[in-house]
Amino acid sequence: MGESTNHQDSPPPSLASIDTLPDDPEVLKALLREQTEAFEALAQQVEATARTADQMGLRDEQFQHFHRLQVLGTLAEGIVHEFNNILAAMLGFTEITLTQLPADSPAQHNLQAVYTAGQRAREIIRQTLSYSRSATAVSAPLAYAPMVTEVLGLLRASLPKTIEIRDEIAPDVGTVLADPASMHQLLMNLCTNAAHALNVSGFIDIKADICQVDEALAARHLSLQPGSHIRLRVQDNGHGISPEILDRIFDPFFTTKAAAQGIGLGLAIVKRIVNTYHGAIAVDSTPGTGTTCTVYLPHATESTATSPQAEKHSVRGKGNILLVDDEIMLAQVSKHILERLGCTVDVCTHSKTAVDRFRNAPHHFDLVITDLTMPEMNGVQLITILKVIRPHIRVILCTGFGHTLDEAALEALGVNALLLKPIETPELAETVQQVLQSPVPGQ
Ligand SMILES: Nc1ncnc2c1ncn2[C@@H]1O[C@H](COP(=O)(O)OP(=O)(O)OP(=O)(O)O)[C@@H](O)[C@H]1O
Ligand SMILES: [Mg+2]
Repeated sequence: MGESTNHQDSPPPSLASIDTLPDDPEVLKALLREQTEAFEALAQQVEATARTADQMGLRDEQFQHFHRLQVLGTLAEGIVHEFNNILAAMLGFTEITLTQLPADSPAQHNLQAVYTAGQRAREIIRQTLSYSRSATAVSAPLAYAPMVTEVLGLLRASLPKTIEIRDEIAPDVGTVLADPASMHQLLMNLCTNAAHALNVSGFIDIKADICQVDEALAARHLSLQPGSHIRLRVQDNGHGISPEILDRIFDPFFTTKAAAQGIGLGLAIVKRIVNTYHGAIAVDSTPGTGTTCTVYLPHATESTATSPQAEKHSVRGKGNILLVDDEIMLAQVSKHILERLGCTVDVCTHSKTAVDRFRNAPHHFDLVITDLTMPEMNGVQLITILKVIRPHIRVILCTGFGHTLDEAALEALGVNALLLKPIETPELAETVQQVLQSPVPGQ
């Protein structure tokens, strides 16, 4: 290969090594071209670095935001634990008083209103907490129409009267396999967005009907299978969503709202819930006209024709129960409920007293119900000691919302059942009866 004599092929001298400009115009052009390219590369590098720094700054902001949320979440869980106990006492005593009052007492109506408001408060707690939890695929069929009616009641009470809430819920819309808290939250989040989009006035249409998802529709949504579904539509005539942001609205922390109005988690949660239950969501929006969110949820195959509430209330149990809870009010409520169910109840508000009482007559008790969070000795420590005294004593452990417990560890400890506070009468009655009926080895 011969050496090229073409000066365009030989590398131009670097700018730093030049004292005087080359005479040859071609060499000069090559030199300028090289310097221009070098500058362009440098500019691109600077731009890329600036972009990265920007993104890092954003990520840092998001991280801090996320961290703040985590701290808030922990704080909220602590408050909720306390609030739950207060609420449980209020609901419990209201329930007891309702049963004691003559049916024609004028106070019945007022107390019923107190009870309903308390139940709403409890639901709000459940919803708030599920923000920080993942939806769990509960396999209990849930009647959809009553659930929607309940949420709409909450919504009507909380939104300004200038917002018209219209509903068209097919009464025979059927059941879904889902936990009620997730279903509440899904609907609430969609309706809250609709209300925000309306600002002060307008309408929100909530419709639920049965829809057969065909192959074509299923093909458009990865999580959807052809078959019978409940179709929920939430439509508003608000400001709508501009096409540029439509594909970002499900992103966690994507929001167009001011800090006090939204954090951008509502639709991310909706999406997660929908995916958990093998459903799908579609959003149609026209800026200036409004938005329609359509959710598909697969039908449960078996129907829940019976009313679980009515069934559970009739459950009765019999047995001697040692009830341990440091919250005296809660202990009294539970004692009352259990006595109404036909049980004999010994209450202890200190776990150490409970140990003494149990040690004195271990075979007198058929069941121990204990709270988890107690001073001096918590529920798990108490159960450990009681099991040493009498290994096969039946035990129910009650916990607040904020606690996640290792189920395997509880099983190893010999805990027969877990109850989540605030405990409702039917739930308590059913669990107590189930546990009392479970066989005790050696008896
Ligand atoms: N019905 C709607 N009408 C107009 N815009 C909507 C509607 N629903 C959602 N959006 C847009 O999608 C964005 C994301 O909604 P998302 O519910 O995830 O978060 P957010 O409402 O901003 O905050 P958060 O729900 O956490 O309080 C909203 O900020 C809004 O711009
Ligand atoms: Mg929202």
